[in-house]
Amino acid sequence: MSLLLVFGTRPQIIKSVPVIRECLTRGLNLTTVNTGQHYDFEMSKVFIEQLSLPDPHFSLGVGSGSHAQQTAKIMTKIEKLVVELRPSVCVVPGDTNSAIGTALGAVKAKIPVAHLEAGLRSREEFMPEEINRRLIDHCSQVLFAPTKNAVTNLSSEGIERNKIFLTGDTMYDLFLSESSKILNAKLPEVPIKKGKYLVMTLHREQNTSTPETLREILSAIKEFGATTVFPIHPRTKNVLRKSGLLKATNHIENLILIDPLPYHSMMRLIKDSEFVITDSGGIQKEAFMAATPCLTLRESTEWVETIKLGANVLVSSVDCRSVVRVMKYLSSNRKNIIHRINRSGQPYGNGKAAKKVVDILQNRYSLPSHAQPG
Ligand code: UD1
Repeated sequence: MSLLLVFGTRPQIIKSVPVIRECLTRGLNLTTVNTGQHYDFEMSKVFIEQLSLPDPHFSLGVGSGSHAQQTAKIMTKIEKLVVELRPSVCVVPGDTNSAIGTALGAVKAKIPVAHLEAGLRSREEFMPEEINRRLIDHCSQVLFAPTKNAVTNLSSEGIERNKIFLTGDTMYDLFLSESSKILNAKLPEVPIKKGKYLVMTLHREQNTSTPETLREILSAIKEFGATTVFPIHPRTKNVLRKSGLLKATNHIENLILIDPLPYHSMMRLIKDSEFVITDSGGIQKEAFMAATPCLTLRESTEWVETIKLGANVLVSSVDCRSVVRVMKYLSSNRKNIIHRINRSGQPYGNGKAAKKVVDILQNRYSLPSHAQPG
């Protein structure tokens, strides 16, 4: 009668925290596994420490590799582990290679899979995460959808309605529960003034696989001229270094490169900024939660609510002129956008998604509590 939860990347840890905390409060028999897809301290361990999670019971140490290599390694190791542990259910958060590897490894060993953050679709056929989430949703026994739109997506693909649960988003749970720590978090020691700087994050394959796209984005930052803090993902840093562009960033006076930040500092940096530029899924949503406008460097997004509510603008052709045009739009309409976000209903639930998730799992798989729910 046990629950297995597997993560391996930065966003998966963040999504899992409220669920892990809820399981611990109830005294459930929970085993956690870190695949090790992310291994740098600031991409992984820092979140476990800062958000006071117990160390994972198992670390698989898979590291980097091609999509097939990474997925296959995870699948093989998870299969071995679940055959040994025989958990009642395996919880899989998000859409990374760790998630698809885990889901396939578990379900093929006849362990039920519960997908946390099910039903998201960007409709980009060759986007690695889109492939992963479609496959995970179709091999899961329980699907936790964060939004109504996600429920509609799952139903329209023929997934049985009795497998789908509208829970809200666990990232919103975390954002609310950490709000006072976010307000008081340490900001990076760089020259910025509240509301007068931008935050940028970039790591998607479509933006980082060629230096040309990165060059266009950097030109846009230079032309717009606002101070831009850029916590840089190791993948992006590698591409910039290899292409010689990393040195060129020294000549963009308004660009400040820093290492990836821990959760609270990153949320405060976003909250205090003029607007955010990103290609991350999680950051688009976190900007919305922090009532900060967002420019997304992608053709489409799975977080359609942020677009419908006018909080987020997509830039599909990532060239300098198009990016600068949207930057100017966000800068001049910032107040209106923030007003709109503050007046909109919250599409990501009420901060109790993890409670719903654990209620459903406990009920469905008869998981005994060793403590009263808090
Ligand atoms: C992965 C996820 C993506 C998620 C992102 C969050 C997949 C397909 N993609 O993308 O959905 O939004 O994590 O960051 O699973 N690297 C390091 N140190 C690390 C981790 C990565 O140096 O700790 C470098 C390596 O060169 C590696 C590259 O970054 O090859 C890419 O890492 P990987 O985990 O494959 O993909 P992400 O871009 O991080």
